[in-house]
Amino acid sequence: MVKGTVCVTGGGGYQASWLVKLLLSKGYMVHATVRDPDDVKNAHLKTLENAAEYLQLFKAELLDYDGLFAAIKGCVGVFHVASPILQDNVSNPEKEMVEPAVSGTSNVLKACSMANVKRVVVVSSIAAVMYNPNWPKGQPMDESCWSDIEYCHTKTGLKWYYIAKTIAERQALEYGKKTGLEVVTVCPSIIIGPMLQSTMNASSWFIYMMLSDDRKTIENGTRMLVDVRDMAEALLLVYEKPEAEGRYICSSHTVAVQDFVEKLKSMYSNYYHPKQITAGDEDWDLTSEKLLKLGWSYRPLEETIVDSVKDYQEKGILK
Ligand SMILES: NC(=O)c1ccc[n+]([C@@H]2O[C@H](COP(=O)([O-])OP(=O)(O)OC[C@H]3O[C@@H](n4cnc5c(N)ncnc54)[C@H](OP(=O)(O)O)[C@@H]3O)[C@@H](O)[C@H]2O)c1
Repeated sequence: MVKGTVCVTGGGGYQASWLVKLLLSKGYMVHATVRDPDDVKNAHLKTLENAAEYLQLFKAELLDYDGLFAAIKGCVGVFHVASPILQDNVSNPEKEMVEPAVSGTSNVLKACSMANVKRVVVVSSIAAVMYNPNWPKGQPMDESCWSDIEYCHTKTGLKWYYIAKTIAERQALEYGKKTGLEVVTVCPSIIIGPMLQSTMNASSWFIYMMLSDDRKTIENGTRMLVDVRDMAEALLLVYEKPEAEGRYICSSHTVAVQDFVEKLKSMYSNYYHPKQITAGDEDWDLTSEKLLKLGWSYRPLEETIVDSVKDYQEKGILK
């Protein structure tokens, strides 16, 4: 029996593909937006179980309100996953990074109101949580911790991504309060695990680079990780549980890069490993207790690593 129609923005992406697969397996009818339905990079969506019957692709850019509205019309729920992702080489970051994230989210929210959608789940990031210099040292960050935009501006490299995610998430929650649209946000840490799409996404490099010849030197520091399949379950959970509200941090494992490298060495001695590990950021942590209390659970890190490496081997990415 069909459960209802929901929309997933950026349906062909790494995280969204696993969400579409999960939704189809649970009996949802899915409208997935992609920038180009005929692009071969979205071909995997059509091969998912139940896709022939229950999946419809819509062409939409985040700045194209009409395209988004066409996909959202007729849906009871929306998962807004699409966003420009981590890049440090953008020439006009406000236009390429902040505008699609912020105006794109605003377009999705407005389309939801116009289409009488009941609940919207917005994928944010721990980037919208962790850049807060005033958070007490030693205390795990929770949902009350927000990245400080001024502080983000003092950072180099990926700062525009942090800024874009923070503004977009704040705006989404404020819009919900103002209009009555149910808006729930989820802030994942680094998402890893097997890929459904055929090309490598940014966060999958995290494991790949440590097993390939690509990085001989790597920076130590604390990293938080979550499996892409567990994150998909988290998105469905906050959608389906009526009591879910506000924001949820979604992270399973906190690791030191050095320890992670040692773990990979012990599991895969036949691959390359970073030879030099330089000093990195200080110890810090965050908590997913709110999500765990809602009923979320996650798999062991070893399972994620084994499934990821198997996937890279099968795709010929790792020889
Ligand atoms: N992966 C992580 O470690 C991580 C961690 C925290 C949060 N997140 C968040 O998780 C979500 C999914 O990321 P992902 O890791 O799955 O990355 P991904 O595979 O690169 O997916 C990003 C998706 O957004 C789409 N997109 C980007 N800009 C767009 C635009 N202007 N108009 C329409 N679509 C656009 C992309 O479409 P194209 O394929 O056409 O480019 C793609 O489908 C994002 O919101 C990201 O910020 C990811």
